[in-house]
Amino acid sequence: MQPSLKKHALAQHLLNSCVERNFRQQAKPYIKRIFQRITQVPVLLAVIAQTIALFAVLAIVKLISLLAITYFNGVINYPFFLLVCMQALMASLVSYSLGMASWWRAIHFIFPLAVWLMCLWQLPNQIYLAGLILSFSVFWSTFRSQVPFFPSRPIVWQRLAKLMPQARSVRLIDIGSGLGDVAMHIAKLRPDSQIEGIEVAPLPWLVSYLRAKLQRSNAIFKLGDYRSLNFAHYDVIFAYLSPVAMPALWQKASQEMRSGSLLISLEFDIPGVASSLRIAGSKNAPMLYVWKLP
Ligand SMILES: C[S@@+](CC[C@H](N)C(=O)[O-])C[C@H]1O[C@@H](n2cnc3c(N)ncnc32)[C@H](O)[C@@H]1O
Repeated sequence: MQPSLKKHALAQHLLNSCVERNFRQQAKPYIKRIFQRITQVPVLLAVIAQTIALFAVLAIVKLISLLAITYFNGVINYPFFLLVCMQALMASLVSYSLGMASWWRAIHFIFPLAVWLMCLWQLPNQIYLAGLILSFSVFWSTFRSQVPFFPSRPIVWQRLAKLMPQARSVRLIDIGSGLGDVAMHIAKLRPDSQIEGIEVAPLPWLVSYLRAKLQRSNAIFKLGDYRSLNFAHYDVIFAYLSPVAMPALWQKASQEMRSGSLLISLEFDIPGVASSLRIAGSKNAPMLYVWKLP
């Protein structure tokens, strides 16, 4: 090759690698952000885990079949149940490798087996539709909010009642009021105060609404998202949500809540924000965190 052509090829190569490196550097933060977004939505990660597991199982099956043909000249017929078990194990393993919370491992393991069983039983389609509607009305936006329904215990309601200002009437709200037990208990103890609950999932809200009517409770239950409330209207806000919801809750509370009002969270702390008071947990009651707004 002539020296000038050599130089030209070298310059072209350098230019290409420069552009490539530049592109890689620029793309890195975007890819990182997309990955972070995905990992923040467990339901997406769950779909990814099952898909990776499916491809891994298919690859293993293919490899074993090829080895069997090559070395033993035989064809393997896999029982379907074995494939389902392999998928269950693999999905559980993948969810572990992706760093998903420990209960997801169990969910990933059970899911393929449950699908297989349901296919065997050949249940009528209406049952699936009813299950879907029931799940939606109880869990509603849990896949997005990551705040599932699980009720607190009577010991917590008693501790909460003791934390409320005693000398004057107050306005309290349970944000994410579930079946309404907290608000109805407090309303019974504090007839002088206005006790409310707000719940985003329709079925628990309906149950709380009807229970309040039947028990002639003073508690008021609203169907809606607590993020649309103005926290300045409340003296005490009680939350039993999830670790994921806490930073945004604090941002809203610190912007809107009046000085001297109380934000009380069951079980979940706010990272980086020192609480004014902590009530130690016990076997049936997790820790209660109290923040008195400055
Ligand atoms: C852990 S449960 C607590 C139930 C009740 N507070 C108790 O202590 O028994 C959390 C509830 O918050 C509801 N929730 C989640 N996000 C919400 C939102 N943005 N607005 C209103 N309710 C919400 C869920 O549907 C669920 O019923």
